[in-house]
Amino acid sequence: MNILLIKNIKEIIKAETCPSLRLYGKDMSSFQSIKDAYLIIKNEKVAEIGKMSDIQISKLANAPDIKEFNAEGRFLFPSFCDSHTHLVYAESRESEFVDKIKGLTYEEIAKKGGGILNSASKVNKASEEYLYDKAFERLEEVKSYGTGAIEIKSGYGLSVNDELKILRVIKKLKENTDIRIKATFLGAHAIPLDYKDRRNDYVNLIINRMIPQISAEGLADYCDVFCEEGFFSNEETEKIINVAVKYGLKSKIHANQLYNSGGVQIAVKNNSLSADHLETIGDEEIDVLKDAFTMPTLLPSSSFFLNMHYAPARKMIDRGLSIALASDYNPGSSPSGNMQFVCSLGCIKLRMTPEEVINATTTNAAYAMEVSKTHGSITVGKPANLFITKKMSSYSFLPYSFGSNVIEYIILNGKSQ
Ligand code: NIG
Ligand code: FE
Repeated sequence: MNILLIKNIKEIIKAETCPSLRLYGKDMSSFQSIKDAYLIIKNEKVAEIGKMSDIQISKLANAPDIKEFNAEGRFLFPSFCDSHTHLVYAESRESEFVDKIKGLTYEEIAKKGGGILNSASKVNKASEEYLYDKAFERLEEVKSYGTGAIEIKSGYGLSVNDELKILRVIKKLKENTDIRIKATFLGAHAIPLDYKDRRNDYVNLIINRMIPQISAEGLADYCDVFCEEGFFSNEETEKIINVAVKYGLKSKIHANQLYNSGGVQIAVKNNSLSADHLETIGDEEIDVLKDAFTMPTLLPSSSFFLNMHYAPARKMIDRGLSIALASDYNPGSSPSGNMQFVCSLGCIKLRMTPEEVINATTTNAAYAMEVSKTHGSITVGKPANLFITKKMSSYSFLPYSFGSNVIEYIILNGKSQ
């Protein structure tokens, strides 16, 4: 039998016996924890958690084949869930980064054939093996920053073959990592150049060819649309997600990033699992999101990188909303999947407290990618998906010390990484 005892833990963050599926408003400002604690992993699952003073009465703690880890001075966190990324891409886009510094806007770059179309032409030239190797490296990197579950979108293919190529890469990643992966089809990320003057034909290609084939091959868990002026209209978005639902794919929507043009309303009306970005939402959208099935998901590293507005997180939480935070890891608007940095931005730029960012990147992000049974909290019976920090004075040191990696030891799916 494989048993690991982690002892003398300074504090187990989110040690929850009956974890909530999602946390709203004021409830985001606290979590259960156990100080001076131990945790036992048996058969890949969390078998016991408790106070060090109670460890003597644990039978497992005296098992002959037990391995021990002394976590003195260290915190134990549930792994981060990153519910929005685009990490399968061929090449980085630093030249656009320089254009942006010189003053071009995100939309101007897209109009010049840069942006998403630039990434699509690079994916077109790359082999499946090349894409896999690049994506696997990125996955290993985000793992080292504490991510234990990740959603990955296609969307840099924009043709039947290339969208399928990306989704097959995601499938292969799923099979070769202890990070839990959810796959999202984002064929509706941009209108490809050769469909510029016949956008309806592209929407029909998505509906009639891509979605049926992806569903038949079981290549996606969700379907996303970049619902935005200059990308996909509200009507096109609804058309696409309605077909996706018929094929068993719930929707996730890129909404209200550049303009306040109705994406949130579409997401809520259609019971999308999440509405992501939300940089331009106003009071009306906040009201619409209240009590919705849809998880509002904020991506502060994309605002940071594009040097644009941040979503009104403080107002949203103060009005009782439940929010998740994710990285948006992609080559155009967030070339980083570091969830510790997302936590720092949550505190520094979104004015969220450390407790709120921890809940937004665990419980609420787990909801936004439907992995709450395995991730989001430290709970007896769940698989062990967690990390142990370096010695730290308090858990707030994690978002405070932006730019450093505070993680020392990682366990995913019960296995040391
Ligand atoms: O989520 N907004 C749309 N898609 C990505 C950016 C894609 C790109 O620029 O390559 C995002 O920010
Ligand atoms: Fe995105």
